[in-house]
Amino acid sequence: METKKKSGFTGSIGFVLAAAGSAVGVGNIWRFPYLAARDGGGLFLLVYLILVLTFGFTLLTTDIALGRKTGKHAWDAFYSIRPKWGFLGKLTFLVPAIIMTYYSVIGGWVLKYTTLYISGHGTDASKDDFFTSFITSKMAPIVFMLLFLAITALVVFTGVEKGIERFSTIVMPGLFLMIIGIALYSLTLTHTDASGITRTGLDGLAIYLIPDFSDLTFSRFLNILLDAMSQLFFSLSVSMGIMITYGSYVKKEINLNKSIAQIEFFDTAVAFLAGLMIIPAIYVFSGTDGMASGPSLMFVSLPKVFHSMGKAGIIVGVIFFLMILLAALTSCVSIMETLVANCANIFKTSRRKTSLMISIYSAITAIIICLGYNIFYFEMKLPNGSVGQLLDLMDYISNSFLMPLISLLTAIFIGWIVKPKWIIEEVETGNVKFSRKKLYAFMIRYVVPVIMSILLLQALGIFH
Ligand code: PHE
Repeated sequence: METKKKSGFTGSIGFVLAAAGSAVGVGNIWRFPYLAARDGGGLFLLVYLILVLTFGFTLLTTDIALGRKTGKHAWDAFYSIRPKWGFLGKLTFLVPAIIMTYYSVIGGWVLKYTTLYISGHGTDASKDDFFTSFITSKMAPIVFMLLFLAITALVVFTGVEKGIERFSTIVMPGLFLMIIGIALYSLTLTHTDASGITRTGLDGLAIYLIPDFSDLTFSRFLNILLDAMSQLFFSLSVSMGIMITYGSYVKKEINLNKSIAQIEFFDTAVAFLAGLMIIPAIYVFSGTDGMASGPSLMFVSLPKVFHSMGKAGIIVGVIFFLMILLAALTSCVSIMETLVANCANIFKTSRRKTSLMISIYSAITAIIICLGYNIFYFEMKLPNGSVGQLLDLMDYISNSFLMPLISLLTAIFIGWIVKPKWIIEEVETGNVKFSRKKLYAFMIRYVVPVIMSILLLQALGIFH
């Protein structure tokens, strides 16, 4: 018997914006620009765009169509097709359960910076050890994380239609406009440094857009490829059951072909524009050296950029952090929603009660992650050679290991067991033309399994 659905998306726009709300998050605004900057700009951008149109499209289509066709959350979706593959649904569930433990911690950091800028203390953030001393302090990160989590829980508590859909419909277009505004502003910057060299926003734009093939080696190319691929998973929220759950809320009359293209476009456009607002600005104020700073780009280097903009920097800072806060919220909502929807189903508890239980789980685990920077501090060498703390370890398990593994298994399952036609039929429901049908079938059968196996070996440190 069909399980009765309590809530669903009312229309196509609502669905697209809610899915985009999940996809667009700190991944686009924090992770994408730092990877692009570190990997030299144009080349990374080119590789990423190609991956979005091939891998991103394939994985997103699979998840959403799977959800709509079965009408089930990830936990049951695979089981309902082939009971033997039920384990895959359970495996996907691990990803949001792990990401939930640390996403609200990062959300808390963003909230801290937002309040700092709003209260007029933005310049403090540009001091050298501000970020480190904040995240290593015992109480503050926990307080901000709990606040962030409370807002997230409130949205989830209100349910899909009233909560998530309405929230995303307002926030996402606003975010888009704000980002375009700051990106344009960023292009008008010029700065002359102590050695008398003047750099302009347009010089930075050239670095961001024009691929530089001059000292490209095979291993460097492989690194860029792997960076771009891990970014793609994280950014599109694919291979973790989230898009399956969202797909299950979508009505049959909605054109999936079009909706998927829109989500892809929206997520990539925000990442592209985030790069456009950050990379030229970093280049203007700190040259190519500044571009290499990695994960701290947003929390350490960017406040310095705002500081050197003078008074305008304070306003730009407020808008900027407010924007990431909203993006982080819509993403965190999607993670929590998946956990709540699945658990309500598994334990047969009410939505409200489940939301409460998940909130408690999230709060406790996130407190442990916060303490990973002081009481539980350790340094661990990860299989790919990088060194990380508790948060990085969780991130590594979910993004670098579980996501390629799930994609690999899903591709084998869809490509070889149920066959691509099963998904294609769902996309074509209601006489919709599936424009990239051939590409889809080829990708899911051949390309995805091969590339994911390589990524997995790389993540386990077996292959470098
Ligand atoms: N995709 C979102 C981002 O880019 C975050 C996210 C990650 C959402 C994992 C769900 C799951 O930040």
